[in-house]
Amino acid sequence: MQPLPPRALMLAPMVELSHRPLRELIEPFGGCDRYYTEMTSASGYLANSPFDRYFVDSEPRPERTVVQLYGVEIEPIAGAAARLLGERLAAGSRLGGIDANFGCSAPVIEKSGGGVSWMKDADRAARLIAALKEAAPGVPVSAKLRLGYEASEQALIAFCRALEDAGADYLVIHPRLKHEKFRRSGHWEYVAAVSKAIGIPVIGNGDIRDLAGYRAVMERYGAAGAMLGREAVRRPWIFSLIRGKEADPAFSLSAPIEETGLRMISLIRTLLPEPLHISRVRRFFFYYCDNLTFGHHLRWAIQNADGLDEVESLFKGYFDEAPSDRIKLER
Ligand SMILES: Cc1cc2nc3c(=O)[nH]c(=O)nc-3n(C[C@H](O)[C@H](O)[C@H](O)COP(=O)(O)O)c2cc1C
Repeated sequence: MQPLPPRALMLAPMVELSHRPLRELIEPFGGCDRYYTEMTSASGYLANSPFDRYFVDSEPRPERTVVQLYGVEIEPIAGAAARLLGERLAAGSRLGGIDANFGCSAPVIEKSGGGVSWMKDADRAARLIAALKEAAPGVPVSAKLRLGYEASEQALIAFCRALEDAGADYLVIHPRLKHEKFRRSGHWEYVAAVSKAIGIPVIGNGDIRDLAGYRAVMERYGAAGAMLGREAVRRPWIFSLIRGKEADPAFSLSAPIEETGLRMISLIRTLLPEPLHISRVRRFFFYYCDNLTFGHHLRWAIQNADGLDEVESLFKGYFDEAPSDRIKLER
């Protein structure tokens, strides 16, 4: 088992975004310590649903990639973990970790008993963690959670302690309550309280966009590392920028905006099956267009485009109009 490196930097699990093409895009800039896959339904995976092998694909860094599973019952989630490990071992590959999704608040998941609804019952959640440890021996097991249904430091600490006692290797906390959307800022004091109260590493997640945010998570809130989601889609070089600036405040990099966008289109084309192309490319450019001075129009044009060829020609066309956006100096 690979312990987490100190001050770990991680890519968050994000549906339609945390796929192999995004990892392939981030890696050449220098990568990060752990990549999470988007959440995959454990039962769907056990039933061989058609696209799951793309969702659990851990290339190009299987040893650093954590597969996030969601489900409603303990048995299929543990069964999926055992099968994943078996498949990896048979292929001579690695499984960088298994994560239990205790945070998703999408109504369809939460109402069916998955995601954040696991936070209603600490004993049951702890039994799932213990079952995952048993199903995938030697594989790090984490859980990614929110603050739960109501603000209670005591209840949150009790929940996290139960997961620790069940064998969780570390926890990721996105400090928002079940119903809180991105507009509100996170309640980071809860990350500080849990980090202090339990013995395993706690990773903080939510709205981290730069070196100052990364540092605050550890230095102000006592976390062991930071997980970034949307900012890593906007700026796939963000991990390198944070690491570089941490080592040398004068560090800067020239971000190849056009080249990186075109590379993403090409990675989606070659690494994902056709039925997933348009949703993935739209979702990526929804965030990536923030790099462009006049990205607003392009963003909406891409949201209405029909296929990768059209997206590619819209994106290339943008730089004919705004050539100075091709490369951006990041510091
Ligand atoms: C499009 C999208 C999809 C997401 N999908 C998942 C998911 O599959 N599993 C999960 O635990 N969290 C998911 N999240 C939440 C993120 O992992 C993360 O907690 C959240 O975006 C806050 O981090 P950020 O501010 O760095 O983006 C998703 C978020 C977004 C924006």
